[in-house]
Amino acid sequence: MKKTALVTGACINTGVAIVEKFAAEGYDVVFTGRDAAKVEAALQSYQAKFPDVKISGYAIESLLDERTVDEQAVIDLFDDLDKKGIFIETLVCNAADQGLGMKIFENPLTDFMRVLNTNIVWNYCLSEHAAKRMKANGGGNIVFVNSNTAYRVIPDRIAYSTSKSGQLGMMRALAFDLGKFNIRVNAVLPGMIRTDRWEKNPDFYKDVPSRYTPIGDVADGEDVADAVFYFAAHARNTTGAELVVDGGNTIQLYPIIPEK
Ligand SMILES: NC(=O)c1ccc[n+]([C@@H]2O[C@H](COP(=O)([O-])OP(=O)(O)OC[C@H]3O[C@@H](n4cnc5c(N)ncnc54)[C@H](OP(=O)(O)O)[C@@H]3O)[C@@H](O)[C@H]2O)c1
Repeated sequence: MKKTALVTGACINTGVAIVEKFAAEGYDVVFTGRDAAKVEAALQSYQAKFPDVKISGYAIESLLDERTVDEQAVIDLFDDLDKKGIFIETLVCNAADQGLGMKIFENPLTDFMRVLNTNIVWNYCLSEHAAKRMKANGGGNIVFVNSNTAYRVIPDRIAYSTSKSGQLGMMRALAFDLGKFNIRVNAVLPGMIRTDRWEKNPDFYKDVPSRYTPIGDVADGEDVADAVFYFAAHARNTTGAELVVDGGNTIQLYPIIPEK
């Protein structure tokens, strides 16, 4: 029987590459976004590209407000999947609040809460409801799309780095508690990914790959998708693990300045 993967935040960028990887590899796919029109547009694009794959899109909110995760939306999502007989064998927690430009003395505390609630608490809630079904079905796996900012930091991203570090702790604890149910839990840690933000700011990013990665290139969405798929489909004896996909960015101590 075909397996089904659920990918969050998959209307643009890396999430799209992950959906397309699973679809190309013979999985059925469920994906989420928060905006119904964007979910519908993404669904049409996926269906045109993969006419033989069962793909469904759900528009769901993650938070009711900065302080509160929308748990009911997650319950409703999984109840609806149950009604349709769709079992999520792989959960890919890709969506993230990037928490961009948050300044310690300027942003309200609720901004910090919003990022942690999205990247940790909401993902915990999704994992809990997915794992309950995986346990009943004899196993499954969860993959977090994390970030190398869990290890090393960048300016004005305290909440984001905190959330990604915390997410790694959660990943290991879930891997421990769920291992006995044949549920594996792992994380992919991208560095920089070539997303639409790169296309919009080509001058800003033009020297980044050569200066900030030993291999001279950053990841495409497909590189991240390959790593996610590896954990989901191939890594039978791997749980609680981290796979860095950053062109070596994390091991590099200072920028490579070209000689004059
Ligand atoms: N881009 C990079 O360079 C980079 C580097 C390292 C790690 N990562 C990680 O890789 C993953 C994908 O990155 P990306 O750049 O492709 O992502 P992205 O485009 O910034 O975001 C992916 C999706 O997350 C959803 N999202 C944002 N805030 C949300 C919230 N509060 N609740 C629920 N969903 C929310 C959005 O979907 P909707 O608006 O459709 O709901 C968005 O399209 C993320 O986990 C990110 O942290 C990215």
